[in-house]
Amino acid sequence: MAGLQRLARVASEVRRDVLAARDRDPAARGAATAEIIATWPGIHALLAYRMAHALEGAGTPLLPRMISMFTRAVTGIEIHPSARIGEGLFIDHGAGVVIGETADIGNNVTLYQGVTLGGTGFATGKRHPTVQDNVTIGSGAKLLGPITIGHGAKIGANSVVITDVPPNSTVVGNPGHPVRVDGRRVEGPDADWIHLPDPIAEAIQALSSRIGALERMVAELSDAEPQPVAEVRPLRTVRGTNPAGG
Ligand SMILES: CC(C)(COP(=O)(O)OP(=O)(O)OC[C@H]1O[C@@H](n2cnc3c(N)ncnc32)[C@H](O)[C@@H]1OP(=O)(O)O)[C@@H](O)C(=O)NCCC(=O)NCCS
Repeated sequence: MAGLQRLARVASEVRRDVLAARDRDPAARGAATAEIIATWPGIHALLAYRMAHALEGAGTPLLPRMISMFTRAVTGIEIHPSARIGEGLFIDHGAGVVIGETADIGNNVTLYQGVTLGGTGFATGKRHPTVQDNVTIGSGAKLLGPITIGHGAKIGANSVVITDVPPNSTVVGNPGHPVRVDGRRVEGPDADWIHLPDPIAEAIQALSSRIGALERMVAELSDAEPQPVAEVRPLRTVRGTNPAGG
């Protein structure tokens, strides 16, 4: 009886996952349900995870980990059977996604390829992120440690997030910092986390100008033609207004 109930729960969760793919993947518009089930790697990974999670909940040894390992080989998505995942998760493209053992994912979350919900070291216990409802995590983002990603947050592609993220905010960069909260630009001193100073470029620029000055002095002393001085540009392009002044 308990087995049948688990099976019914897995079937209902998978149905929600397929609906999530249909809703949130522009490429799924017009695709038949059978096509999504047959060809979407994120759906395969979730189907396998939901079975593995149910088996682990029933105390089955070894098999859940084997399902997880096999799924990783086929889809490139590794979900630990003990991770807790709510309804309507959508994993787009899939390859390189890692969801750790103590990760906790709410409802209607979207993950793109290359997302890691990982630990930061050898700590035991709760060591992976908690992701609340309606969060979107961009491709390549690394979320590390037992942090909480507040509901409705958006994590930019390739961000590295190691601290809690407020609800309804947009976080980008490495380390990740909020650039929008409730749709509004974050304001106040030191709030411009995107246009950070570039100390390496500044150091090279200082050296370059000193070399230029020395070259000009050598040219004057030796009557040689002065050489053009190389320009050093900052690695980061500075765009938009600087809100550091408040
Ligand atoms: C972060 C993201 C969700 C956009 O969120 P948003 O709330 O609409 O925010 P905006 O586009 O207005 O960007 C806010 C600021 O962050 C910057 N930004 C956006 N994404 C960024 C990123 N990944 N890395 C660094 N900065 C980023 C923007 O340039 C903008 O800067 P500004 O304040 O100087 O104008 C989006 O840029 C992103 O990274 N999405 C992931 C998409 C993805 O992985 N696609 C894969 C498909 S296969």
